[in-house]
Amino acid sequence: MAEMSYRTALVTGASSGLGRGMALWFARRGVKVYAAARRRENLEALANEARAAGAHIEPVELDVADADATVARIRELDAACEGLDLVIANAGFGKESSARRLNWETVKQTLDVNVTGAAATLSAVLPKMVERQRGHLVGVASLAAFRGLPRQAAYSASKAFLSTFMESLRVDLRGTGVHVTCLYPGFVKSEMTAQNKFNMPFLLETEEAVELMGRAIQRGEAQYLFPWQLARVMGLVKLLPNALFDATARKLR
Ligand SMILES: NC(=O)c1ccc[n+]([C@@H]2O[C@H](COP(=O)([O-])OP(=O)(O)OC[C@H]3O[C@@H](n4cnc5c(N)ncnc54)[C@H](OP(=O)(O)O)[C@@H]3O)[C@@H](O)[C@H]2O)c1
Repeated sequence: MAEMSYRTALVTGASSGLGRGMALWFARRGVKVYAAARRRENLEALANEARAAGAHIEPVELDVADADATVARIRELDAACEGLDLVIANAGFGKESSARRLNWETVKQTLDVNVTGAAATLSAVLPKMVERQRGHLVGVASLAAFRGLPRQAAYSASKAFLSTFMESLRVDLRGTGVHVTCLYPGFVKSEMTAQNKFNMPFLLETEEAVELMGRAIQRGEAQYLFPWQLARVMGLVKLLPNALFDATARKLR
Protein backbone atom coordinates (compact mmCIF):
# COMPACT_ATOMS: atom_id res chain seq x y z
CA MET A 1 0.00 0.00 0.00
CA ALA A 2 1.48 3.39 -1.02
CA GLU A 3 1.97 6.00 1.70
CA MET A 4 -0.38 8.96 1.46
CA SER A 5 0.99 12.48 1.14
CA TYR A 6 -0.89 15.62 2.09
CA ARG A 7 -0.41 19.38 1.69
CA THR A 8 -3.35 20.39 3.85
CA ALA A 9 -5.48 18.81 6.57
CA LEU A 10 -8.41 19.64 8.83
CA VAL A 11 -8.65 18.03 12.26
CA THR A 12 -11.76 18.62 14.37
CA GLY A 13 -11.61 18.31 18.14
CA ALA A 14 -8.02 19.55 18.02
CA SER A 15 -8.06 21.53 21.29
CA SER A 16 -7.16 18.46 23.41
CA GLY A 17 -6.38 14.75 23.46
CA LEU A 18 -6.16 12.72 20.27
CA GLY A 19 -7.15 15.59 17.95
CA ARG A 20 -4.48 17.88 19.37
CA GLY A 21 -1.94 15.10 19.04
CA MET A 22 -2.89 14.27 15.45
CA ALA A 23 -2.82 17.94 14.42
CA LEU A 24 0.77 18.21 15.70
CA TRP A 25 1.73 14.82 14.22
CA PHE A 26 0.76 15.87 10.70
CA ALA A 27 2.01 19.47 11.08
CA ARG A 28 5.46 18.17 12.11
CA ARG A 29 5.49 16.20 8.84
CA GLY A 30 5.07 19.36 6.76
CA VAL A 31 1.27 19.39 6.42
CA LYS A 32 -0.54 22.72 6.87
CA VAL A 33 -3.15 21.78 9.49
CA TYR A 34 -6.41 23.59 10.25
CA ALA A 35 -7.10 22.74 13.88
CA ALA A 36 -10.78 23.12 14.79
CA ALA A 37 -12.61 23.15 18.13
CA ARG A 38 -14.55 25.55 20.38
CA ARG A 39 -11.77 26.48 22.82
CA ARG A 40 -9.88 29.19 20.97
CA GLU A 41 -7.18 29.63 23.66
CA ASN A 42 -6.22 25.94 23.44
CA LEU A 43 -5.95 26.20 19.66
CA GLU A 44 -3.78 29.34 19.90
CA ALA A 45 -1.45 27.50 22.31
CA LEU A 46 -1.30 24.58 19.86
CA ALA A 47 -0.49 26.91 16.96
CA ASN A 48 2.31 28.47 19.02
CA GLU A 49 3.73 25.06 19.90
CA ALA A 50 3.69 24.11 16.21
CA ARG A 51 5.34 27.41 15.21
CA ALA A 52 8.15 26.83 17.73
CA ALA A 53 8.77 23.46 16.03
CA GLY A 54 8.79 25.06 12.55
CA ALA A 55 5.35 23.62 11.72
CA HIS A 56 2.14 25.30 10.58
CA ILE A 57 -1.20 25.03 12.42
CA GLU A 58 -4.11 27.43 11.81
CA PRO A 59 -6.67 27.66 14.62
CA VAL A 60 -10.32 27.43 13.51
CA GLU A 61 -13.01 28.17 16.08
CA LEU A 62 -15.84 25.78 15.27
CA ASP A 63 -18.77 24.15 17.07
CA VAL A 64 -19.55 21.00 15.07
CA ALA A 65 -22.89 20.68 16.88
CA ASP A 66 -24.00 23.54 14.60
CA ALA A 67 -24.01 21.35 11.49
CA ASP A 68 -24.94 23.95 8.88
CA ALA A 69 -22.32 26.42 10.12
CA THR A 70 -19.78 23.56 10.15
CA VAL A 71 -20.48 22.67 6.51
CA ALA A 72 -20.24 26.34 5.46
CA ARG A 73 -16.98 26.96 7.38
CA ILE A 74 -15.28 23.79 6.09
CA ARG A 75 -16.25 24.65 2.50
CA GLU A 76 -14.70 28.10 3.00
CA LEU A 77 -11.47 26.51 4.26
CA ASP A 78 -11.47 24.04 1.38
CA ALA A 79 -11.75 26.88 -1.13
CA ALA A 80 -9.18 29.08 0.67
CA CYS A 81 -6.46 26.38 0.65
CA GLU A 82 -7.27 25.11 -2.84
CA GLY A 83 -8.49 21.80 -1.52
CA LEU A 84 -8.18 19.98 1.78
CA ASP A 85 -6.31 16.72 1.23
CA LEU A 86 -7.14 15.15 4.58
CA VAL A 87 -10.19 15.65 6.81
CA ILE A 88 -10.26 13.97 10.22
CA ALA A 89 -13.66 13.98 11.97
CA ASN A 90 -12.34 13.52 15.48
CA ALA A 91 -14.45 15.88 17.65
CA GLY A 92 -16.30 13.77 20.17
CA PHE A 93 -18.38 13.90 23.29
CA GLY A 94 -18.92 11.07 25.75
CA LYS A 95 -20.49 10.98 29.16
CA GLU A 96 -21.48 7.87 31.07
CA SER A 97 -25.17 7.64 31.80
CA SER A 98 -27.20 4.65 32.93
CA ALA A 99 -30.45 4.15 31.01
CA ARG A 100 -32.14 4.16 34.43
CA ARG A 101 -31.30 7.86 34.73
CA LEU A 102 -31.16 8.72 31.05
CA ASN A 103 -30.52 12.40 30.51
CA TRP A 104 -31.90 13.76 27.23
CA GLU A 105 -29.45 16.69 27.19
CA THR A 106 -26.52 14.24 27.30
CA VAL A 107 -28.04 12.04 24.59
CA LYS A 108 -28.69 15.08 22.38
CA GLN A 109 -25.19 16.50 22.81
CA THR A 110 -23.67 13.10 22.01
CA LEU A 111 -25.67 12.81 18.80
CA ASP A 112 -25.13 16.46 17.81
CA VAL A 113 -21.35 16.13 18.07
CA ASN A 114 -20.58 12.46 17.29
CA VAL A 115 -23.25 11.82 14.66
CA THR A 116 -24.46 15.04 13.03
CA GLY A 117 -21.19 16.91 13.61
CA ALA A 118 -19.03 14.12 12.20
CA ALA A 119 -21.32 13.55 9.21
CA ALA A 120 -21.37 17.31 8.48
CA THR A 121 -17.57 17.51 8.69
CA LEU A 122 -17.08 14.65 6.24
CA SER A 123 -19.94 15.55 3.89
CA ALA A 124 -18.82 19.18 3.55
CA VAL A 125 -15.76 18.38 1.44
CA LEU A 126 -16.85 15.16 -0.20
CA PRO A 127 -18.23 16.50 -3.52
CA LYS A 128 -15.11 18.63 -4.08
CA MET A 129 -12.79 15.72 -3.25
CA VAL A 130 -14.62 13.53 -5.77
CA GLU A 131 -14.34 16.32 -8.37
CA ARG A 132 -10.58 16.61 -7.69
CA GLN A 133 -10.23 12.79 -7.63
CA ARG A 134 -8.10 13.21 -4.54
CA GLY A 135 -8.61 13.30 -0.78
CA HIS A 136 -8.75 11.28 2.40
CA LEU A 137 -11.65 11.16 4.86
CA VAL A 138 -11.04 9.83 8.37
CA GLY A 139 -13.62 9.12 11.06
CA VAL A 140 -12.66 8.50 14.67
CA ALA A 141 -15.13 5.88 15.87
CA SER A 142 -14.40 3.61 18.86
CA LEU A 143 -14.22 -0.04 19.88
CA ALA A 144 -17.40 0.90 21.81
CA ALA A 145 -19.17 0.83 18.42
CA PHE A 146 -19.30 -2.97 18.33
CA ARG A 147 -21.95 -3.54 21.02
CA GLY A 148 -24.32 -1.44 23.10
CA LEU A 149 -22.04 -1.10 26.12
CA PRO A 150 -23.52 -0.57 29.58
CA ARG A 151 -24.02 3.12 30.57
CA GLN A 152 -22.97 4.10 27.04
CA ALA A 153 -26.22 3.90 25.06
CA ALA A 154 -25.81 7.19 23.20
CA TYR A 155 -22.01 6.96 22.89
CA SER A 156 -21.90 3.35 21.62
CA ALA A 157 -24.74 4.03 19.19
CA SER A 158 -23.15 7.25 17.93
CA LYS A 159 -19.90 5.43 17.15
CA ALA A 160 -21.80 2.59 15.47
CA PHE A 161 -23.37 5.23 13.21
CA LEU A 162 -19.96 6.63 12.27
CA SER A 163 -18.55 3.15 11.65
CA THR A 164 -21.39 2.24 9.29
CA PHE A 165 -21.32 5.66 7.61
CA MET A 166 -17.59 5.30 6.88
CA GLU A 167 -18.10 1.79 5.52
CA SER A 168 -20.70 2.93 3.00
CA LEU A 169 -18.52 5.89 1.97
CA ARG A 170 -15.62 3.51 1.43
CA VAL A 171 -17.68 1.22 -0.81
CA ASP A 172 -19.15 4.09 -2.85
CA LEU A 173 -15.87 5.98 -3.22
CA ARG A 174 -13.76 3.07 -4.41
CA GLY A 175 -12.06 4.08 -7.67
CA THR A 176 -12.75 7.81 -7.23
CA GLY A 177 -9.32 8.64 -5.79
CA VAL A 178 -10.92 9.53 -2.43
CA HIS A 179 -9.72 7.29 0.43
CA VAL A 180 -11.68 6.44 3.56
CA THR A 181 -10.31 5.35 6.94
CA CYS A 182 -12.22 4.51 10.08
CA LEU A 183 -10.27 4.40 13.36
CA TYR A 184 -11.45 2.42 16.39
CA PRO A 185 -9.47 3.39 19.49
CA GLY A 186 -9.77 1.44 22.73
CA PHE A 187 -9.03 3.37 25.95
CA VAL A 188 -6.64 6.30 25.62
CA LYS A 189 -5.70 8.89 28.27
CA SER A 190 -7.51 12.17 27.50
CA GLU A 191 -9.92 14.67 29.03
CA MET A 192 -12.75 12.34 28.03
CA THR A 193 -11.42 9.25 29.80
CA ALA A 194 -10.19 11.24 32.83
CA GLN A 195 -13.84 11.30 34.02
CA ASN A 196 -14.16 7.47 33.86
CA LYS A 197 -14.47 5.83 37.26
CA PHE A 198 -14.08 2.25 36.01
CA ASN A 199 -11.04 0.16 35.20
CA MET A 200 -9.84 0.80 31.61
CA PRO A 201 -8.02 -2.28 30.25
CA PHE A 202 -4.99 -1.74 27.98
CA LEU A 203 -5.15 2.04 28.55
CA LEU A 204 -2.77 3.85 26.17
CA GLU A 205 -0.88 7.10 26.60
CA THR A 206 -2.16 9.81 24.23
CA GLU A 207 1.18 9.98 22.35
CA GLU A 208 1.25 6.21 21.79
CA ALA A 209 -2.28 6.29 20.35
CA VAL A 210 -1.54 9.33 18.17
CA GLU A 211 1.50 7.58 16.68
CA LEU A 212 -0.58 4.48 15.85
CA MET A 213 -3.40 6.57 14.36
CA GLY A 214 -1.12 8.84 12.34
CA ARG A 215 0.67 5.86 10.81
CA ALA A 216 -2.58 4.00 10.06
CA ILE A 217 -3.94 7.09 8.28
CA GLN A 218 -0.74 7.52 6.28
CA ARG A 219 -0.86 3.87 5.23
CA GLY A 220 -4.42 4.45 4.00
CA GLU A 221 -5.89 1.63 6.14
CA ALA A 222 -9.63 1.14 5.56
CA GLN A 223 -10.10 0.29 9.23
CA TYR A 224 -7.72 0.40 12.14
CA LEU A 225 -8.62 -1.12 15.52
CA PHE A 226 -6.27 -0.68 18.48
CA PRO A 227 -4.78 -1.66 20.87
CA TRP A 228 -4.80 -5.12 19.33
CA GLN A 229 -5.50 -6.86 22.66
CA LEU A 230 -8.78 -4.98 23.26
CA ALA A 231 -9.64 -5.18 19.54
CA ARG A 232 -9.43 -9.00 19.81
CA VAL A 233 -11.64 -8.98 22.91
CA MET A 234 -14.24 -6.74 21.24
CA GLY A 235 -14.12 -8.94 18.12
CA LEU A 236 -15.23 -11.86 20.31
CA VAL A 237 -17.75 -9.78 22.29
CA LYS A 238 -19.35 -8.79 18.97
CA LEU A 239 -20.04 -12.48 18.26
CA LEU A 240 -21.58 -13.30 21.65
CA PRO A 241 -25.24 -14.27 21.58
CA ASN A 242 -27.46 -11.67 23.32
CA ALA A 243 -28.07 -13.72 26.49
CA LEU A 244 -24.33 -14.17 27.08
CA PHE A 245 -23.55 -10.57 26.15
CA ASP A 246 -26.27 -9.21 28.48
CA ALA A 247 -25.07 -11.32 31.42
CA THR A 248 -21.43 -10.21 30.91
CA ALA A 249 -22.38 -6.57 30.37
CA ARG A 250 -24.57 -6.55 33.49
CA LYS A 251 -21.57 -7.70 35.53
CA LEU A 252 -19.49 -4.86 34.09
CA ARG A 253 -22.22 -2.36 34.96
N1 LIG B 1 -9.88 8.59 24.66
C1 LIG B 1 -10.41 7.43 24.36
O1 LIG B 1 -10.24 6.44 25.10
C2 LIG B 1 -11.23 7.26 23.12
C3 LIG B 1 -11.59 5.96 22.75
C4 LIG B 1 -12.33 5.78 21.60
C5 LIG B 1 -12.68 6.86 20.81
N2 LIG B 1 -12.32 8.11 21.19
C6 LIG B 1 -12.73 9.22 20.34
O2 LIG B 1 -11.62 10.02 20.04
C7 LIG B 1 -12.04 11.36 19.77
C8 LIG B 1 -11.18 12.33 20.57
O3 LIG B 1 -11.46 12.14 21.95
P1 LIG B 1 -10.37 12.39 23.10
O4 LIG B 1 -10.25 11.13 23.84
O5 LIG B 1 -9.16 13.03 22.55
O6 LIG B 1 -11.19 13.38 24.05
P2 LIG B 1 -11.03 14.90 24.44
O7 LIG B 1 -9.66 15.21 24.90
O8 LIG B 1 -12.16 15.17 25.37
O9 LIG B 1 -11.25 15.68 23.06
C9 LIG B 1 -12.49 15.91 22.51
C10 LIG B 1 -12.34 17.02 21.49
O10 LIG B 1 -13.60 17.21 20.84
C11 LIG B 1 -13.87 18.60 20.83
N3 LIG B 1 -15.31 18.87 20.82
C12 LIG B 1 -16.24 18.44 21.69
N4 LIG B 1 -17.44 18.98 21.38
C13 LIG B 1 -17.23 19.77 20.28
C14 LIG B 1 -18.06 20.60 19.50
N5 LIG B 1 -19.36 20.75 19.79
N6 LIG B 1 -17.51 21.25 18.44
C15 LIG B 1 -16.20 21.11 18.16
N7 LIG B 1 -15.36 20.35 18.88
C16 LIG B 1 -15.88 19.68 19.92
C17 LIG B 1 -13.22 19.16 22.07
O11 LIG B 1 -12.92 20.54 21.88
P3 LIG B 1 -13.69 21.80 22.49
O12 LIG B 1 -14.25 21.39 23.82
O13 LIG B 1 -12.63 22.84 22.58
O14 LIG B 1 -14.73 22.14 21.48
C18 LIG B 1 -11.94 18.35 22.13
O15 LIG B 1 -10.95 18.95 21.33
C19 LIG B 1 -13.53 11.40 20.13
O16 LIG B 1 -14.30 11.26 18.97
C20 LIG B 1 -13.71 10.18 21.01
O17 LIG B 1 -15.04 9.70 21.00
C21 LIG B 1 -11.60 8.33 22.32
